[in-house]
Amino acid sequence: MKNVLIVSGHTNLQGDSFANKIILEDLQAKLPNATFDFLDQEYPNFKIDVTVERKKLEAADIIVLQFPIFWYSMPSLMAKWMEDTFVHGWSHGSTGKALHGKKLLLSFTTGAPADMYVEGGIQMYPVETMTTRFQQMANLCGLVYEGYIYTGGVSYASRPDAEKVKIMEAACHEHADCVITRLKELSK
Ligand SMILES: Cc1cc2nc3c(=O)[nH]c(=O)nc-3n(C[C@H](O)[C@H](O)[C@H](O)COP(=O)(O)O)c2cc1C
Repeated sequence: MKNVLIVSGHTNLQGDSFANKIILEDLQAKLPNATFDFLDQEYPNFKIDVTVERKKLEAADIIVLQFPIFWYSMPSLMAKWMEDTFVHGWSHGSTGKALHGKKLLLSFTTGAPADMYVEGGIQMYPVETMTTRFQQMANLCGLVYEGYIYTGGVSYASRPDAEKVKIMEAACHEHADCVITRLKELSK
């Protein structure tokens, strides 16, 4: 497999995650050669070490952004990481070619079930309205956008219900397996 960097954007993975924690534990167990970047562990104070983060990105062939959707976007910590690290002259602009040709895969979860993310549904808009920004970021930075793996319905509200927890657990394991399958395809 090519060099894979998996960036976790959850703001409290150990203390307040169900889905991303399971997905990332599976990925760690099954992808021993991948590099994992747990932003909440590295930067609990949101002070991003840009030099370190750029080295990790430069070494990668495939970049996976793993995160929960918070307010229809990525969590604040991941946004701060991107704002600080992806800067004109490094990631984009006439001299910014550091990310050119690398592949970008999104892997994310939502509390609302996937069938609510349809035109006119309870969430009003399709899930792609939350991925377009990443697609355009990829275009601007010369990254090859490879789409997304998505699991909905991993909600706080279901955590007290043992039956729902089982269903969510299975969905998260399946999600991780889909990421691994995709990474194998992207490594060919
Ligand atoms: C601050 C915050 C904002 C959220 N915003 C959304 C949202 O916009 N849409 C949605 O479907 N779920 C939303 N959720 C639910 C999370 O997406 C869900 O809890 C998460 O994907 C589950 O992953 P985790 O168990 O790893 O935290 C939000 C949760 C929090 C804490």
